[in-house]
Amino acid sequence: MLKLLTLTALPVGFLTVSWAATAGQKGKVTGNAAKGKALFTQTCAPCHSDTSKTANIGPGLKGLFKEKKMPATNRPVSVAIVKSQIQKGGGGMPAFGSKYNTQELNDLIAYLRTL
Ligand code: HEC
Repeated sequence: MLKLLTLTALPVGFLTVSWAATAGQKGKVTGNAAKGKALFTQTCAPCHSDTSKTANIGPGLKGLFKEKKMPATNRPVSVAIVKSQIQKGGGGMPAFGSKYNTQELNDLIAYLRTL
């Protein structure tokens, strides 16, 4: 049964990713959540959970964009503020400066929006 579920889940995941990529070309979705997830796993996951709100080194980011306020600083949640947190860091989080280009920042945001 579990095997069957896995087999049917795979094509659905694939379709979702291709849809996101197509929509991106049309300008509706600027970030690619699948790419953002890979970046998040590499860089953010050691300090941030993406599956809970429980703090690790930094606050858990599950549901970030469903909240009104940022988990650590209580600033309003917005794309600009989250991008600025990534670039400038603060409160114990390192600044990533120009590590990510605009596309990669948008990919990260697209992934954070799915949490
Ligand atoms: C070395 C650990 C570390 C890494 C790596 C890290 N962060 Fe953080 N992050 C923190 C800490 C600590 C805070 C809490 C900051 C505070 O208290 O103001 C934080 C806070 C945040 C916040 C909430 C800010 C607020 O205003 O409440 C967001 C969003 C965030 N990080 C996103 C990210 C993303 C996205 C990445 C990857 C690009 C990342 N972080 C990488 C440690 C980290």
